[in-house]
This record gives sequence, structure tokens and C-alpha cells, in this order.
Amino acid sequence: MSGRGSDRFAVVRAKLRHAFTPSQPVADRRLFAGRDEVLKTIIRSIEDQRLHVVLYGERGIGKTSLMHILTQAATEARYIVVYTSCGANSNFDETFRAAAAEIPLLFHSGFSPTAAEAEKGASLADLLPNEPLTPRKFGDLCARLTGTRVLIILDEFDRAESGAFRRDVAEVIKNLSDRLGRVQLVLAGVAADLTELVEHIPSIRRNIFALRVPKMTEAEVLQIVANGEREADLKFDPQASAFVVEVARGSPYIANLVCHHAGHAALDAGRSMVQPADVASAVDRTILEFQGRIGTPIQQHVRRLFDQGRQDVLAMTSRAALAADGVFDASDVEASNRISARKAQDAIEILVAERLLRSLHSEEAGQRYSFVEEGMPTLIWMMWAQRNLNGGSAAAPTPRAAAGS
Ligand SMILES: Nc1ncnc2c1ncn2[C@@H]1O[C@H](COP(=O)(O)OP(=O)(O)OP(=O)(O)O)[C@@H](O)[C@H]1O
Ligand SMILES: [Mg+2]
Repeated sequence: MSGRGSDRFAVVRAKLRHAFTPSQPVADRRLFAGRDEVLKTIIRSIEDQRLHVVLYGERGIGKTSLMHILTQAATEARYIVVYTSCGANSNFDETFRAAAAEIPLLFHSGFSPTAAEAEKGASLADLLPNEPLTPRKFGDLCARLTGTRVLIILDEFDRAESGAFRRDVAEVIKNLSDRLGRVQLVLAGVAADLTELVEHIPSIRRNIFALRVPKMTEAEVLQIVANGEREADLKFDPQASAFVVEVARGSPYIANLVCHHAGHAALDAGRSMVQPADVASAVDRTILEFQGRIGTPIQQHVRRLFDQGRQDVLAMTSRAALAADGVFDASDVEASNRISARKAQDAIEILVAERLLRSLHSEEAGQRYSFVEEGMPTLIWMMWAQRNLNGGSAAAPTPRAAAGS
């Protein structure tokens, strides 16, 4: 292969792979952008308030990356940190036995291991009974820890299907809190609201600090670009960076994906300066990738509406959907586009009539809406961006442009 292998940017290409990682969480601090406030808040709740933490938010918003950076910070602060990624079949016994195995027996107050045992790496797991582990038993054991603090992180908590597992985790949180233990839990997972992630919330509400991971600010997305520039020896033209910010709308995932493709597009054109046109072609690729996730009839329907001049209605509602993690009401459309209530309501009604929006009614929240498929707001937003922010004109239209007539 003479093509890519011998090109003078081969080294940059190789670096690009690590500079923007759309398919992996960030574990390297140099690539971790922003999130200072979120991290500070989590650490304060753990350290000062001794609370358990529940971190929730939409897919790809950066929960796992945050957990990786938290793990590093806590390890440096001499916590024992146990990180677990939950799966569909996660159960209490296996998960917490594995956690116990990470805690050296040395820290158990009622037990001073002989030198030989300590050397063999004896752990709390050695004290566990043969029968299935219960939250109470685990709590009892943790209550006897001394001279250390332990953080057990259960990431991707939403994947665990077992109701019993979720109940036991709530139970163990209650148990640990009642005993002012030295063991704290951090749960992270996809959810639009807290109760969706943790059932049995009422019993542990006082013992947890819950935090929804917000969209990234413009400055944070720009930091993703800047980190990647530094790592890959590439430069983004300021208009190209501004274009990335517009398209990403606060999603670190989209920012990484678009920057990754844009970097390759620039190298393909023999440049180490990424231009707005490279971002435009990256958006094209990203749209192609996203199309695979959405049903063909829906896609055709959306395209037809674009062609019929409904693009503003589509853009305004998807912007509201993106800002509100999927479920929104008329006031969200109004606020995220700075348009009149009347106009917002009209936009919603058009798409309800087209059967692209589903209407959800509840006593407390009133009339709310969501797109009929999860990936639609992102796809629609990118299609709008592609048509309106394309190429050299990237800097001209602001997000409000869509709100015009
Ligand atoms: N602070 C950050 N700085 C740079 N990139 C980030 C940051 N946070 C997340 N990303 C990027 O965003 C994408 C999604 O991140 P991550 O996997 O952490 O999200 P998640 O919320 O755990 O996703 P999921 O809901 O699928 O588990 C990845 O490409 C990751 O590299
Ligand atoms: Mg994750």
C-alpha cells in the first residue's frame, strides 16, 4: 500500500487516532476537556458530605470518561477505587464479591493478617461466606474497615436488567449510610431522570447526591478541539472550530466524531490545517453513520420535509430535543430558539401531524413530546447544519438563523 503508508502525514494520521476518540471514553487526563465544575461537585459530595453519588445523563455525554478521571483523582487521594462496568446479567453477589477482593484485609479492624497472608494479597473477599452475599453482610463487613476509604463505581448501571440487583444496590447504599461507613458508591448510567436510573429511590434519597451530566459548554467543546490539535499536530482554522461547536451542540461524542473525520479529510487533501470544508465533509460522513441507526421510512420522511421547506420546523424542535435530553415541551422550543410561544406550538403541531413527534402526557409535567426515534434529533440537527453552515459560510448563520421565517 503506497497510498496512506507513505504519505508524509502518516505520523499525523497515527496520532489522530489517539487525539479524537469517538468510540472510546477518555481515560487520559491530557485529552479530558472541561468538566471542572462537575468533578469538583462530585468530589465535594464524596469527601465532605460522605454521600453516595448517582450520575446520570444521555448516551455519550461523557459519564464513563468522568468516572475514569474521578478514579484517578480518588486513587491519588489514597482511596481504594473499584471500577465496575455493569452488564445485562450483573448480580449483587458477583459484583460485590469482586469489589471485596480489591480491598486488602489489612484494613479490617478485627483482623490483623499475618505477614504471609498480607503478602499473598489476602482481601475482604476471604472473609465472605459461601452462600450468596447479601447487602447486609457486605455492609457489616464494610463497617469494620479502618484506615482507608473505598469508592465502588458501578458504571453503565442502566444496563443491569435484574430488578433484584437494583434493589440490592439501593439496600447496600442504605446500609452503608446508616453505619457511617468508609465505603461509598458511585452509580452512573443513561437516564433522562434520576428515578429512571434508580428505583427504590425514596428509601435512599437522603443518602445520595444525584447529578445530571450537563451538555458541554462552547468553551469545553473548543477544548476538545484544542487538545486534539496539540496531540495530533494539526491546526483547526477558527471557522472550522466554530463549525464543530455548532454541530456538536454540547455533545463530546459528536465533537470527537466530527473532529476525527475532519482531521482525516484535511490530511487527505494534503493539509495540516483543518478548514471549514473538512468539517463539512466530516458532517456528511457522520450523517451517513447516523443513518444506519434510524429506520429508512423515517429518514425518507425527514428528507421529504426538508425538501418541502420544513427545515426550520425540524431544526427548532430537534434543538429543543437535544437541549432537553429528548423529552421537551413547547416552552423548551420557545426558549432554545428564542421564538414566540405561538411559533413554538405551531412547529410542534406540524410534526405531531406528520407523526414524527410523539406526544406524552403526564399529570405533573403536562404535555410533552419526543421524536419517535432516539437518534432523530441528532440526525436532523446535523442535516440542518450541513445545509446551512456548510463550507466557508460556516461562520455566518447563528443558531438563531433557523428561527427566522
Ligand atoms: N471531558 C471529555 N473530554 C473529551 N472527550 C470526551 C469527554 N467526555 C466524553 N468525551 C468523548 O465523548 C464520547 C462519549 O464519552 P463517554 O463514553 O465517556 O460517554 P458516556 O456518557 O459514558 O456514554 P454511554 O452513555 O454510551 O455510556 C467519547 O468519544 C469520549 O471520548
Ligand atoms: Mg459510559
